[in-house]
Amino acid sequence: MAEPVRVAVLISGRGSNMLALSEHKRRDPDRAYRIVLVASNVPQARGLVLAKRLGIKTWTRSHEGMAREDFDALLDAALRDHDVELVALAGYMRLLSDAFVAKWEGRLLNIHPSLLPEHKGLDTHRRALIAGDEYAGCSVHLVTTDLDSGPVLAQARVKIRPRDDPESLAARVLEEEHRLYPIALEEYCRALRGADEDGHDA
Ligand code: GRF
Repeated sequence: MAEPVRVAVLISGRGSNMLALSEHKRRDPDRAYRIVLVASNVPQARGLVLAKRLGIKTWTRSHEGMAREDFDALLDAALRDHDVELVALAGYMRLLSDAFVAKWEGRLLNIHPSLLPEHKGLDTHRRALIAGDEYAGCSVHLVTTDLDSGPVLAQARVKIRPRDDPESLAARVLEEEHRLYPIALEEYCRALRGADEDGHDA
């Protein structure tokens, strides 16, 4: 069987999606991915503590006072040091430079808490409520230089209830994120390995 795809998860905070990705792998070691690094631009990120407890390597450096390109070059070097093949953004709250996105094209995934293309950017739940949407949800997508606009790989819907506020809605969407992201990552990694093997056969 092919080696699992070496994945880095990028976080800036709580890290609950990172945890979900890690748990999914723990439940079945035959998954097509393996988390080899959790990296953060926020040294105090709670998710880093969780990752360390799980025995996952971590890398962190504050981006403060650094030009975006310079910070991303350091991040990129850390990823390459760990032979990372695919990057999964999970609550990484910093825009990536175009150069970084170009380097990782096709190998950079994100989870966004809306049904893209609706409600790109921040404060998605409040905006879904104000718009009177019937459904909210989350999307796993490939990252391109256009914010939250890359091809969508998977989505899950959550029915909006009349008494929802942004917090109650965010909590139900987050549950779906935790279910969706591992499945989407697994599928993508299987496809990547399939493509690698086809390449070798050719
Ligand atoms: C999630 O809602 C994710 O969709 C968004 O940021 C939040 C991160 O939460 N991009 P966590 O750090 O994974 O708990």
